[in-house]
Amino acid sequence: MEHIQLKNETPNAMEAITGEIAHDFNKLLAAIKSRASLMMNSVKPSDPHYEHIIEIIRCIDKGSEFANHLLAFEKIDEYYTSSIDANRLVRKAMENLDFRGKRIVLDVDLDSKPLIIEADPDKLNQVFINIIDNALQAMPEGGKLSVVTESSAILNGAARSYGLNTGFFVKITITDTGIGMEKDVLEHIFTPFYSADHECHPEKKGLGLTFARGIVQNHNGVIDVWSSPKTGSSFSIILPLKETTDNIDIPVEEEKLILGNESILLVGDEERILTVGREICKALGYSVITVASGEEAIKIYKEQKEEINLVILDMCMLEMNGLEIFLELKKLNPDIKVLLSTGHSIDEKVQEMLRQGCKGYILKPYSVIDFSHKLREVLQV
Ligand SMILES: Nc1ncnc2c1ncn2[C@@H]1O[C@H](COP(=O)(O)OP(=O)(O)OP(=O)(O)O)[C@@H](O)[C@H]1O
Ligand SMILES: [Mg+2]
Repeated sequence: MEHIQLKNETPNAMEAITGEIAHDFNKLLAAIKSRASLMMNSVKPSDPHYEHIIEIIRCIDKGSEFANHLLAFEKIDEYYTSSIDANRLVRKAMENLDFRGKRIVLDVDLDSKPLIIEADPDKLNQVFINIIDNALQAMPEGGKLSVVTESSAILNGAARSYGLNTGFFVKITITDTGIGMEKDVLEHIFTPFYSADHECHPEKKGLGLTFARGIVQNHNGVIDVWSSPKTGSSFSIILPLKETTDNIDIPVEEEKLILGNESILLVGDEERILTVGREICKALGYSVITVASGEEAIKIYKEQKEEINLVILDMCMLEMNGLEIFLELKKLNPDIKVLLSTGHSIDEKVQEMLRQGCKGYILKPYSVIDFSHKLREVLQV
């Protein structure tokens, strides 16, 4: 098992011209995307062209990712930090993963306490995306992606070996069961433009980890890596834990609750969860029907499908699992909007539901703000 620690180097800035080109390229992509989105709005998901439009939008998003890589060079020193809970950042990043076509099981284990750090959320999100991209590419046949957050005291010798001062840190560890790395690969992974299999994958730029490391260093943290060929790899992002007296996550200015007025069918067999869910949905402006079983959900949806805009399924249903309920509901309306509310694991059943057109999932426990944003996101698709 190999383990490397980082030296304190920051990536070289690219010339300003690269940023200019990336900006123009992004503008062009935005124009194409808005046209594609207009087309999507006028085509039903059951239409054969729908999948083609989705694919066009996916390619555009990939293109903007490239452009953003270049822009990140230009903006490498622009940070907008605030006090945030690392658990929340991780949860959000995990909910936005795109697993379509991949046989990946996701396991998320978040510390039960808020882990407050001083960070730029967009920049850290980029770090998660880059590391997870690599992990998914390392598991072409499928596998398990685990994400764990915890607080950890790093003292004396251990702190010195990382180039950190003794203190308390937040550790976010992303582990895959992929191909792993030989020592000679591991030694180069943070080198700009190093990509192990460049000949087979010329689209890979060898910049993902270069950026990830630069960003983490700018947060006064380090990335610690373990890997073992044919077993997998583990990347730990270690960031200073912020000392606060109240340890609460302070939402940033634009993070307001977003209200709505649609109708939601909430399905779950735990009375307490249903009651809380109903109260939250009502407080956000929605009208809510709650049901405690899959059979009941199908019956109500059959009767009121014209009025119900969204179904939220709790995944720990006893007598009928979420996948079965989803497939039954889909028979009643192929364009149905279903959001899953799930614990820490995204297993094969959830993956199958996403493949079959379920609109997304939210990992429990979630904050009301995140829930309100997720509802809008799903209702507006
Ligand atoms: N989880 C992992 N498992 C196996 N190999 C990995 C993993 N993460 C990184 N690597 C190796 O490190 C190399 C460098 O990663 P990096 O993200 O910087 O570049 P890339 O993925 O090749 O290209 P880009 O991220 O720019 O698309 C990869 O080419 C890969 O060989
Ligand atoms: Mg990469």
